[in-house]
Amino acid sequence: MNIKNVVVIGSGTMGSGIAAQLCNANVPVTLLDLKTEISENAKKKIFKSRPPLLIDKSKIDNIKVGNIENNFDIVKKADWVVEAVVERIEIKHKLYEKILKTRKKDSIISSNTSTIPLKVLSKKMSDEDKRDFCITHFFNPVRYMGLLEIVSETTNDEKKINLLKNFCEDNLGKGVIICKDTPGFLGNRVGVYAMQVAMTEAIKMKLSVEEADAVFGRPMGIPKTGVFGLYDLIGIDLMADVLKSFLKELSTTDIFHEVAQETSLIKNLIENGYTGRKGKGGFYRVSKKDGKKVLEVINLTTEDYLPSRKIDLNIDEKIDLKKLVSRNDKYGKYAWSVISKIILYASSLIPSVTKDYNNIDEAMRLGFNWVKGPFEMLEELGVKFFVEKNDQLKINEFIKKLYDKKTDTFYGERQIYTNLETLGKVKQLAKINKDNKSANIYEHKNYKIVEFNTKANTLDHDSMDALKKASDQNMIIINEGTQFSAGVNLNYVMDFAKEKDWKAIERFVHHFQMTCKQLKYSDNLVISAPSGLTLGGGKEVCLQSDYVVAHTNIVMGLVETLVGLIPAGGGTKEMLWRWMQNPEAQKDPDFAPQKVFDIIGYGKTVSSPVEALPFKFLLDKDKSIMNRDKLLSVSQNLINEKKDGYKPPKKPIFKLSGDQVRDKMFKILENLFREKKILKHGMEVGKKLAFVLSGGNTTLDKELSEDDMYALELEAFVQLIQMEKTQARIKHTLSTGKPLVN
Ligand code: NAI
Repeated sequence: MNIKNVVVIGSGTMGSGIAAQLCNANVPVTLLDLKTEISENAKKKIFKSRPPLLIDKSKIDNIKVGNIENNFDIVKKADWVVEAVVERIEIKHKLYEKILKTRKKDSIISSNTSTIPLKVLSKKMSDEDKRDFCITHFFNPVRYMGLLEIVSETTNDEKKINLLKNFCEDNLGKGVIICKDTPGFLGNRVGVYAMQVAMTEAIKMKLSVEEADAVFGRPMGIPKTGVFGLYDLIGIDLMADVLKSFLKELSTTDIFHEVAQETSLIKNLIENGYTGRKGKGGFYRVSKKDGKKVLEVINLTTEDYLPSRKIDLNIDEKIDLKKLVSRNDKYGKYAWSVISKIILYASSLIPSVTKDYNNIDEAMRLGFNWVKGPFEMLEELGVKFFVEKNDQLKINEFIKKLYDKKTDTFYGERQIYTNLETLGKVKQLAKINKDNKSANIYEHKNYKIVEFNTKANTLDHDSMDALKKASDQNMIIINEGTQFSAGVNLNYVMDFAKEKDWKAIERFVHHFQMTCKQLKYSDNLVISAPSGLTLGGGKEVCLQSDYVVAHTNIVMGLVETLVGLIPAGGGTKEMLWRWMQNPEAQKDPDFAPQKVFDIIGYGKTVSSPVEALPFKFLLDKDKSIMNRDKLLSVSQNLINEKKDGYKPPKKPIFKLSGDQVRDKMFKILENLFREKKILKHGMEVGKKLAFVLSGGNTTLDKELSEDDMYALELEAFVQLIQMEKTQARIKHTLSTGKPLVN
C-alpha cells in the first residue's frame, strides 16, 4: 500500500497543521470537522498563517474541506486517516467507531493525542483493527517542528508502521521516532518535566521570571523563550491539562509528581484569564502606559506585574555548561539544580521507557529545539564531574554504570531514528579541525564540511577564514543550528564602528568578498545547504556557491538595507548578474538594476524555496528538500554527480547605464519619501544602493568587471557604516530584534 490520499479529522491547531504539511508534500488531503464552516475557516487560517504553514500558497486548494456528517464517505478512499479532534476520550472513541465502519481495508488510522495512552484509545477495537491503529504525535507548528513520535505496540502490524514512518520521513520531512506507549512518550515526558523543574526551582530559589528565563534559555542551548515564555506560548491552561494527565497516568513513585502539582499561582492566572499569549497575558503581559507598549512580568511571590528587566548574565555567546553550572552565584546554582535534575530524570527512563537514550536527546532537539539533549549535556559535563560535583546527588543505575566504567565519553551513534546519512552521524566519523572559533571544518570522504558555530551563526572574519581554508576541496556549507546564518555579526562590526576603525571594517568586508569570490571560482564544488534563517551575509554565501540545497523551511533574503547598509559581500552584484540573464534585460539595460533595487531596497524575504525562485534568490538548478536530515546526503550526491569535468563559472562583465538608471531610482526614492514610506536615512541608503546598481560613474558603452562591482559595494558599505543613523539602526536592531525606521 502507498499513502496517496489522506483524511484529517478535526481542523483545529493540529489538524490544520497536519493538513497543510500534507498539502506541502503534494498529497491530496481532506479536512473534516463538525461543520464545514469550521473546516472552511481553518483553511482560511492556514492561508493567512504567520509564519506560513504552506510552502506554496497557490496549492491551498489541494486541501478539500467538509463535515463529518455529509462528507464522511471520503474516509472510504483514504489510505491514512488522522484523528486530531479535542482531547476527549469519549469523542475520540465515538469517532473511531465510525471510521472503522467506513474505512477501506488495510488503511492506517492514527490519533494525534498528546496524553491519552494507545491502549486506552484502542480499548474497544478488534485485534484486526488494532493492527492498523497507532498514535502519530506531531508538534506545533507542524511545518516547523521536526519531531513526529509514532507510538505503536506489539499489537500493531510492524510493516505498516514502517511504511507510515517512511512516508512521514520522506514526504512530510519529519524526524520520526518510534516510541513505546508510555505517558507523554519521549518528548513531552522529558520536555514537560524539564519545564516543571525549571519553574519550581526558580520559585524555590527565589529567581525572578526574567532571571529564570535568562538561564534556562540560550546559556543552556534552550530557545530563548525560556520556561515562563514557553508556558505563555503553549497556554497556561493547556499546560495544566497536560500535567493533570501526567499525574493520572504516572505511578505515584515517579518523581514527576514532585514538580507537577497545581500551584495557587497557576490557578489564579487561569481563573483570571491569564492563560498566556492567547489570553490577557501570562507570566509576561504587554500593557499600555502613556500610549506606549510596555512588557511587564509577574512577580512570582506577590503576583503583581512590574516592567520587565533585561538580565545580563555576563557570559560568552558560546554555550559552556560546565562553566555555567560551576558559577558560584544564584544563576550557577539554579542552572546546576535544573540540569542535574533533568539528567537524572531522563536517565531514570532507561530502559523502561526507551532503551535508546539517544532518542531522548533527538526528541528534545526536534520537538523542543534544544541544541543538546540531556545525555549530550551529561557527556559535555563529564560523568565524573557530574557525579562528584555534589555528594547529595542520588544517582541512578544508568549513571552509576557509566561512572563505574570510569570513562567520560559514552555517547555512541547519533540520530539512530533514521537510516539517512545525516550531518549528526557524519560529524562523529569525520576528521575535525577545531582551530577556528567561528566554524568547524570536517573532512569526510571526498569533501569538506564547514559548520558555522556562532550565535545564530552570524559571520565574522574567522567564518570567512574557515570557508577559504576549506575551499581546497569540494565543500558543503551546512550546520545543525536553527539558523543557517542570520548574516554578518553586527556586534563585531559595531565594535569597530565604536572605535571609528573604518579601516578594520573595510578589511573585513574585503575579506568577505574575496572569500566568496574564491568559493565561486575555485576548482572545487561549493554547495550551501541552508535551513532556517539565511539572511544578509548568509544569503551572499549561498548566492556565490555553485548549488544550494535548501530545506523547505528557509527564510531567505538580503535585509541589509533594514539596518542602513547594503549587501557588500558580493550579494548586490550577484543578484544584478542573475537578473541580467533575464530576457527582459536583453531589451532594456535598466531592467535588471531596477528589479534588484526593488528586491534589496525593500529588504524582501521569502519563507520557502518556492517563494525564492521568482526573486532569483534561488535558481532552477538548486534543490528544495523537505527533510532536513537529507540535506547532507543530497549535497553529497550532487558533488558526486557534478564533480567530473566541473569548471568554475565564467567571469561576468557588467554594462550599466550609470546616472541614466540612477535618475529613475532616485525618482522612486523621492516618491517614497513624499508618501512618507521612507524617511531621510532611507533616502540615503537607497541612493547608495542605486549608485552601486547603476555601476557608479559609468555609461552603457563601458565594461565593468566583477572586481569593479565588488569595489562599488565596498565603498558604499564603508560610507554607510560611518553614518550615525545607520549605527542607530544597527543598535536598535541588536537590542530589540526589530528594524528602526529613520
Ligand atoms: P483544537 O481545539 O484546536 O481543535 C480541535 C478540533 O476538533 C476543533 O476544530 C473541533 O471543532 C474539532 N472537533 C471536536 N469534536 C469533533 C468531532 N467529533 N469530529 C470532528 N471534529 C471535531 O485542538 P488541537 O490543539 O488541534 O488538538 C487536537 C489533538 O492534538 C488533541 O488530541 C491534542 O491533545 C493533540 N495535540 C495538540 C497539540 C497542541 O499543541 N495543540 C500538540 C500535539 C498534540
